[in-house]
Amino acid sequence: MHKILVTGGLGFIGSHTVVELQNKGFEVVIIDDLSNSTIKVLEGITAITGKAPIFEKLDLKEKNKVEAFFKNHQDIAGVIHFAASKAVGESVENPLLYYENNINTLVYVLKSLSKLETKNFIFSSSCTVYGQADKMPITENAPVKLAESPYGNTKQIGEEIIKDTCKITPELSAISLRYFNPIGAHASAKIGELPIGVPQNLVPFITQTAAGLRKELSVFGNDYPTSDGTCIRDYIHVVDLAKAHVVALQRLLHNKNTNNYETFNIGTGKGSTVLEVIKSFEKVSGKQLNYKFAPRREGDVIQAYADTTKANNELGWKADSSLDDAMLSAWNWEKQIRNI
Ligand code: WQD
Repeated sequence: MHKILVTGGLGFIGSHTVVELQNKGFEVVIIDDLSNSTIKVLEGITAITGKAPIFEKLDLKEKNKVEAFFKNHQDIAGVIHFAASKAVGESVENPLLYYENNINTLVYVLKSLSKLETKNFIFSSSCTVYGQADKMPITENAPVKLAESPYGNTKQIGEEIIKDTCKITPELSAISLRYFNPIGAHASAKIGELPIGVPQNLVPFITQTAAGLRKELSVFGNDYPTSDGTCIRDYIHVVDLAKAHVVALQRLLHNKNTNNYETFNIGTGKGSTVLEVIKSFEKVSGKQLNYKFAPRREGDVIQAYADTTKANNELGWKADSSLDDAMLSAWNWEKQIRNI
């Protein structure tokens, strides 16, 4: 049974990926510094799969600790690297925190990984690297544009670091998965999105408003050149996204990759406006959402949705869940954590 390291494995996407890895029979080791998660997530994962992943609380910024960890786990068959800070707005206010936490840690993990027998690496990237793409849907060949934020820049730099390392390390195989907008929660409602403080992202803000934690949702701009004036995104169920990581890892473990560095867009291929997301929520929850229109948010792109041809054909992966499925799972999770 392959042993897989999942850094940031107690985070939103990481925890759902650990569940899917365990479902496929992998042994999982999680590293997390708990800066943006809680140990309760480990209980949730164990409750779902019946298997407790190995967990080590570790700050990947501490280079010696990273080296010591890999010395104790020489039999790791692959690494899925989620650990990073991911709030766009915060990255603008505190760029050095983002460059240290997202770049240094990647370098330390790659350096230690390069010393292992097998070198398979999956990187958590983002459609943010495309900025406002000129053509929709967005393919992997769309130009990587000047990042709109330090957060987005760390994803672009991260991809370059991996690509350069793969160039001089033929036995290192890596895949960058460029996520679109992950939403929703596991069907069991035992794990889900746990934003700390006021949610920056749309869907947790919607569910917290419906749960009575927020007065109303502000829709950032309704004067965009779209069908209803609100921005378009590709909202993908987090479980579909988690499954894409397992498929990508298996591609590397079975040497199915066509070269040792690949990128894939992971989305549904469908764009939805903010108002369509609200309508979907109201439909699946049976609740009227309290919202108002507000000025545009700095740095928002008008539209971004994926061309998933490459992931469908080469990776052999396709998103199964609809927007309604994802919104219902998000609402069930919110009700579970608020005891509604
Ligand atoms: C979606 C739409 C907002 C909140 C970011 C990162 C991306 C990834 C996902 C980490 C936009 C609108 C939002 C609100 C609103 N992060 N909105 N009111 O900005 O597309 O992507 O999060 O991996 O890398 O860039 O997601 O959910 O913040 O916004 O109207 O209170 O919802 O304007 O149009 P975004 P989002």
